[in-house]
Amino acid sequence: MYTQALDLPQQPEAAGAARLKVVVTPPSEAQARSQARFDAVLDADGKIEPQDWMPEAYRKTLVRQISQHAHSEIVGMLPEGNWISRAPSLKRKAILLAKVQDEAGHGQYLYSAAETLGASREDLLHALHTGRAKYSSIFNYPTLNWADVGVIGWLVDGAAIMNQIPLCRCSYGPYARAMIRICKEESFHQRQGFESLMLLMQGTPGQRAMVQDAVNRWWWPVLAMFGPPDADSPNTAQSTRWGIKRISNDALRQKFVDATVPQAKVLGVSVPDPELRLDEATGHYHYGPIDWDDFWRVVNGQGPCNAERLATRVKADADGAWVREASLAYAAKQAARQGAATAQEAA
Ligand SMILES: [Fe+2]
Ligand SMILES: [Fe+2]
Repeated sequence: MYTQALDLPQQPEAAGAARLKVVVTPPSEAQARSQARFDAVLDADGKIEPQDWMPEAYRKTLVRQISQHAHSEIVGMLPEGNWISRAPSLKRKAILLAKVQDEAGHGQYLYSAAETLGASREDLLHALHTGRAKYSSIFNYPTLNWADVGVIGWLVDGAAIMNQIPLCRCSYGPYARAMIRICKEESFHQRQGFESLMLLMQGTPGQRAMVQDAVNRWWWPVLAMFGPPDADSPNTAQSTRWGIKRISNDALRQKFVDATVPQAKVLGVSVPDPELRLDEATGHYHYGPIDWDDFWRVVNGQGPCNAERLATRVKADADGAWVREASLAYAAKQAARQGAATAQEAA
C-alpha cells in the first residue's frame, strides 16, 4: 500500500538550509529544449524514463511520493504481522504470511523505483527511522482482534487498489511498471480479506460482533486514506499536469464508497455512518463528514501506534544490520576472487 494522497509535506528543512538564498536564473537554450521535450512526452501521454531530462521539482515530487509509498508498504507489514502467530488455522496463517511478504516486496520495488531517480535507499530509510519521512497514517491504528486482519484486507487493501490503479498510468516509467504488479497482488489481498470476513459472518454471534467492531473502527480512517479534500490539496494541479496524479482525492474516495457499501451489504455488516445514503439523482452514496483533525493528529505522530511502529522498524533495521554486512562482505569476496581470476587469465 498505499497512496497518491501520500504526497504529504515533509518536516521543515534544517534551519541552515532555510537561510539559503534561492537564485533564479533564466533557463539556457539547452534547458528550454529539454523542457520542451519533457512537455511533449507528457502531452502525448508518454513515459519519462530515468535517463531522460526532467525538471528538478518533478524528480523531487516523485522521490517524496514513491518513498512515502515504499515506507507505507513496509510499515504496513507491522499491524498484520502481529497476527501471524495468532492466526486461527494453518490455512489462514499461510495466507497472511504470503500477504505480509507481498508487502515487503512492494516496498522493494518502490525503493528501487526511487533509486532510479538518484535517491539513496539508506537516506530514505534513515528519514523514516528518524521520523522525518511520512507513511500512510492508517498503519498507526491497532489491530485488536482477528477480524481486523480481514477488514484490513477488505477495506485498507481495497482503498489501496483504488488509489494505485491510476498510478499504473503514472508518467514516470519505473513507478508505473512497479504499480502494475503491485495492483495484482493488492487484488489478492482484498479478496482474501473479504473471504475471511464472509466466513466469520457465517459463524457465531460473537464472531459477527467481532467483524462489526472491526468495521466500526477502520471505516473512517480508511476514508481518510485518500488524503485531504481536494480543496485542501494544493499540489494536486501540478501533479495532475505532470501525469503523476490522474484522479483527485475526493473522486477516488467517492469511487471507493460507491464500490464498498454494496459489499458491506453482501457481508451483512453496517457502515458506521448515520448520514450514509444513496443519492438517487447522482447514483453516488452520500457520506458524513470525516474527522480531519484526527487524520492530521495521526499524520503528525500522535496516533495510537505511531511510536510503536517506528520503534519496531528501527529495531528490525538494527537486528538486520549483520545480514547486510555479511552480504556486502560476501559480495566483496566474490569480486576479489573474480578480479584475481581475471588477472590470472590475462597473465
Ligand atoms: Fe502493498
Ligand atoms: Fe496489500
